[in-house]
Amino acid sequence: MMMRMSSSSPGPARPRVLSGIQPTADSFHLGNYLGALRHWVSMQFDHDAFYCIVDMHAITVDYDPQILRERTLGSTAQLIAMGVDPRQCTLFVQSHVPEHAQLAWVMGCLTGFGEAARMTQFKDKTAKGGQDRATVGLFTYPVLQAADILLYQADRVPVGEDQRQHLELTRDLVGRFNHRFGETFTLPEPHIIKDTAKISDLQEPTAKMSKSASSNAGIVDLLDEPKTSGKKIRSAVTDSGREVYFDEVEKPGISNLLTIYSALSGRTVEDVAATYDGRGYGDLKKDLAQVVEDFITPFRARTIELLEDRAELDAILREGAARARSVASETLADVYERIGFVPATPSESSR
Ligand code: TYM
Repeated sequence: MMMRMSSSSPGPARPRVLSGIQPTADSFHLGNYLGALRHWVSMQFDHDAFYCIVDMHAITVDYDPQILRERTLGSTAQLIAMGVDPRQCTLFVQSHVPEHAQLAWVMGCLTGFGEAARMTQFKDKTAKGGQDRATVGLFTYPVLQAADILLYQADRVPVGEDQRQHLELTRDLVGRFNHRFGETFTLPEPHIIKDTAKISDLQEPTAKMSKSASSNAGIVDLLDEPKTSGKKIRSAVTDSGREVYFDEVEKPGISNLLTIYSALSGRTVEDVAATYDGRGYGDLKKDLAQVVEDFITPFRARTIELLEDRAELDAILREGAARARSVASETLADVYERIGFVPATPSESSR
């Protein structure tokens, strides 16, 4: 096993955490925040945290280069505005660290074709256009994700429920690699907090809130005008009946709103539900709209402010990439040696 150095503080190594987000939309949405990003923020204080904006994953589907560049910087600003602190963690862009692509190739050579074909996200994303029109990059997407995680020897990976299968594949690859080439990779644990692991679309409460939804009406974008978000909450589809209680089967719409309310206010779902006992859906939606507006108003202002200083964002990313590379290059060198590649420069011992 490789020696673990803490990237930002001396002393005993803290557990490692790694996670990633795609810069595929102008704004992150409430599902991203509640399912994953708020854990990024809280975990950076007691973990050695690596957070990555995965631009290489973003080019697996159709995209515009100029917009991708804007969204990558926009993602950086949003993460910082939300509380991801580049002094507490390593925040970087995937394409700045070439080891991601290099390790992905190695892991791809250990992944079965059928195994990759069973990934439900690939099946979902190609359901409409057909697999013939999908790129090879989209097919091997989970292999690149495994490389993201393994390069940093992550112990924990905070994500939403939709990433569970990709993490299972990563864990299988760890077992396969370590068995064949000797103990090399840490086995990462998914950090999926059940209550908020799948935030639903406000208009279609049985589907997850997703940037690829056909309509924007059910998605709370964190950079929406606060008034627009409030309106989306007040127009959320609710269930039959009038009583406010949590039941995902009978009341998927209300349960989703209670989950969002609870997570943003820090109150328990039961406590929130009890407040609206006998008062009906209207009051719940009105108050939640206010809670959401109060959350996104300062976030939005801070993001806009951060985007005004591009040079500062670039500097943060440059420093993050250097820190990430120092860890990633060590892992990759170890992997290359174990799998039988001849070193590009002879080692001290063989000179
Ligand atoms: P992405 O960019 O689609 O989403 C970022 C994070 O948001 C979570 N999420 C949700 N959580 C709860 N409810 C929702 N409705 C919801 N929608 C999205 C996702 O689960 C994710 O945690 N493949 C990843 C990016 C990635 C990655 C990695 C993650 C690349 N490499 C390495 C972890 C480790 C993705 O597409 O996330």
